[in-house]
Amino acid sequence: MAMPHAAILGIGAYAPSRVMTNAELEQKVDTSNEWIIERTGIEERHIAAPDEAASDLALKAARDAMAMAGVTPQDLDLIVCATVTGDTPFPSTACWLQSKLGAPQAAAFDIAAGCTGFLYGIHVVQNLIRSGAYKKVLLVGVEVLSRVLDWTDRSTCVLLGDAAGAAILGAAVDESGILASNIAADGDKGELLHLPAGGSRHPASHETVDGRLHYFKMNGRETFKHATRNMGEIAQKTLRDAGLGLGDVDLLVPHQANLRIITYLAKALDVPMEKVFTNVQRYGNTSSASIPLALTEAYKAGRVQKGQVILMVAFGAGLTWGATALRW
Ligand code: UT7
Repeated sequence: MAMPHAAILGIGAYAPSRVMTNAELEQKVDTSNEWIIERTGIEERHIAAPDEAASDLALKAARDAMAMAGVTPQDLDLIVCATVTGDTPFPSTACWLQSKLGAPQAAAFDIAAGCTGFLYGIHVVQNLIRSGAYKKVLLVGVEVLSRVLDWTDRSTCVLLGDAAGAAILGAAVDESGILASNIAADGDKGELLHLPAGGSRHPASHETVDGRLHYFKMNGRETFKHATRNMGEIAQKTLRDAGLGLGDVDLLVPHQANLRIITYLAKALDVPMEKVFTNVQRYGNTSSASIPLALTEAYKAGRVQKGQVILMVAFGAGLTWGATALRW
């Protein structure tokens, strides 16, 4: 029997209402609106309220995706959350979300793959659907990065933001669906982008707190180099696997870390910027949430039409990277 094709049946997103502008950051650290815009393209980002944790953001995005797909919590047989800033180290954010949704029949687990988390999720979930093991899966990318930012470190605190994006995946009903996906990793470069303490290597202690080791650390310049090269390569491989060329891409939805990286990637792939969706200007880098948030906004703006080829590509902590090509 032919394996069913997996497709995205609904999408949704949520960003907290509080917006932090570059002008506000100028008051906190030695930075300027000009520097941030010139080096990153970011103008503002959303910050979660003190009582909002990852599963709260995820719930709102999930409900929108479920409404679009016409799916109820009882229809879900699996919930997967891509996150590195979950509610608690354990249980998983997917379990907290399962409880909030009221979907006791659904299995639930998290994926930690940095900013590539959502595309790792698509890769895993589409294979579970194709195998016939699961029928209706909720995949969420969610981050509350503001909680792990060092608000005295100008090299990182200006870059990130909080958000959630969700998708319902199931068997495709027509030609639409996921055409090809690839994921990759290079653990040798884990320290380029990491959060040192709070795990079994450096459990929380007065020393880790005093050393500011519970915060996001990044070697931006090195990360930049790997991001551009690896995203370009995996995007091309994924299109080849799908039997497509770069000219077939109707919309490129890249991870929204930095407008310069996106522009560089589009140029390297020879995809005109009119075919590239960007919203990093308004959200900053929301890691696992970035791709589903961008896809949802692109869809709502009418830039994702039935039959079009969408190419999504991401890069993040791990290092990890991945790409998915789909027909909408
Ligand atoms: O999402 C996962 C993957 N992450 C990424 O893809 C991020 C990749 N990296 C980047 O996006 C860029 O490297 C950054 C935006 C993080 C930094 O841009 P850059 O052009 O690579 O700047 P840099 O780190 O080389 O710093 C240039 C200068 C430095 O000053 P000196 O040493 O030249 O005097 C920094 O101290 O800019 C300074 N700087 C700042 N100045 C004002 C760094 N951060 C700031 C700031 N405001 N916020």
